[in-house]
Amino acid sequence: MGIYNCSLLGYGYYVPETILTNAQLETMMDTSDEWIVSRTGIKERRIAAREQTASDLGALAARKAIAAAGIQAADLDLIITATITGDYIWPATACRIQDKLGLHGIPAFDISAACTGFIYGLNMARGLIASGSYKNILLVCTEKFSAGLNWQDRNVSVLFADGAGAVVLGRSADEGVLASALFADGSKSDLLLQPGGGSCKPISAELVASGQHYLQMNGKEVYMHAVSKMPQALDAVLSQAGLAVEQLDHLVFHQANLRIIQAIVQRYRLPADKVVVNLDRYGNTSAATIPIALAESLESRRIKRGDLVGVAAFGGGFTWGAAIIRI
Ligand code: UT7
Repeated sequence: MGIYNCSLLGYGYYVPETILTNAQLETMMDTSDEWIVSRTGIKERRIAAREQTASDLGALAARKAIAAAGIQAADLDLIITATITGDYIWPATACRIQDKLGLHGIPAFDISAACTGFIYGLNMARGLIASGSYKNILLVCTEKFSAGLNWQDRNVSVLFADGAGAVVLGRSADEGVLASALFADGSKSDLLLQPGGGSCKPISAELVASGQHYLQMNGKEVYMHAVSKMPQALDAVLSQAGLAVEQLDHLVFHQANLRIIQAIVQRYRLPADKVVVNLDRYGNTSAATIPIALAESLESRRIKRGDLVGVAAFGGGFTWGAAIIRI
């Protein structure tokens, strides 16, 4: 693809210690463990401490990824952060993570691709390394949904949670990102969004009173699109790489709903043990779900160096995409 091959040199993740179970949610709103488990597969999720920000979670995951990559933080020359629950609307959460890592001077910016943030960031970092523009890029996906969820709205508050995953990408002898493909359809942007707080609906007392600063989702529409778009993206990267799905050792799909993952598993007739699922323990951490699942699976040795892994995600925008990684 370019002058240099690019690989993921190190993976890291951080999830907050505090666990919020479905049973605890039952005491906070009109919901039930039975509803949440049967409709989503989620049993519990992690909630950050009040003073912990998205950049704090991201910096913790980043330090682990840097250590796993076997490089010094000072060897990094770019930080990309994927988040939709960053510390501020601006400046970029990537700049805050850069500060926490003590890397003043190197460029740092955020990308806004919602749940597809990891795949957008991976694609971008791969291109920048392949072209020779940068040598070692830190990609941090971090979310703190708990800070901005409407705990009165059972439709979304039981789904989203906090966590961070990070990877270091760098030059390598062999290609580590065998294929990647990105897609978006802005005509569907109003089906999953935070309506208030931007230039469309600036913050005002009325806006806050009407709850428009909270995440809103048309769950059924998002579900339908997720089930068809992730396979579209996966097919695109399989064809780019000249691979059949059976040749992948593992698949990691965005962790939003177990039923979405099961529908894709059935479509490709995938053996269940090839498909990583951790949403039962972490819920939906948007951009962070895939890098958390990759880092955790490496830690538990479920996924090993050299394995071929397909990843696919779908989220707000709408955005969707997939990649094939040689771990
Ligand atoms: O990360 C970005 C991508 N996001 C996704 O991929 C999420 C996609 N969507 C989904 O995962 C599912 O659509 C949901 C989990 C959000 C909802 O599942 P569903 O099977 O589509 O349920 P529904 O929206 O049809 O709701 C069914 C019922 C409703 O009650 P009525 O109107 O039928 O009486 C809801 O009010 O379930 C009710 N409901 C709940 N009940 C108990 C909604 N949320 C809850 C809840 N507890 N937490």
